[in-house]
Amino acid sequence: MNVKLVYCTRTNHSKKIADSIAAAIQIPAENVADKPALENVDLLFLVGGIYSGDSLPGMIAFVESLDQNKVRRVALVTSCVSYKMPQKAVRNLLLNKGIVVVDEFMCKGSFLIFGLRHPNQTDFDNAAQYAKGIMENMSGMK
Ligand SMILES: Cc1cc2nc3c(=O)[nH]c(=O)nc-3n(C[C@H](O)[C@H](O)[C@H](O)COP(=O)(O)O)c2cc1C
Repeated sequence: MNVKLVYCTRTNHSKKIADSIAAAIQIPAENVADKPALENVDLLFLVGGIYSGDSLPGMIAFVESLDQNKVRRVALVTSCVSYKMPQKAVRNLLLNKGIVVVDEFMCKGSFLIFGLRHPNQTDFDNAAQYAKGIMENMSGMK
């Protein structure tokens, strides 16, 4: 199974979360800013934060550029202070392209005094466990 891991970040939370996932599933974490090339991807982890209710423009632009013939499935990992703001626009773009969204994992972030010290080591570990679980569920699928 060809698996890729891409993050988009403004305050580095998503990079840290992606690094934790990368260590757990032993693939590199790539920054959208580096324009990762995706070919024949069975599963793509997309890690990003929420700003004023939605994903960063860099994440949206990256998802807009995805080709459904090159990326089959996406698992979202979303970092936000409220713990309950999914990546709506990203999900809709993926669905409109015919790319399957297998799941979305919410990871606590912070904003001003809210969510202080998040994401923390437990959040990183939980994200890594989530990714490993998705990989196990998908093993054997094409
Ligand atoms: C300016 C700003 C706006 C934010 N807006 C929201 C928001 O609307 N909803 C939310 O749940 N979290 C919000 N957050 C929290 C971030 O989503 C959270 O800290 C996330 O972990 C940031 O990810 P990043 O560092 O990878 O960019 C905001 C944070 C900042 C700094």
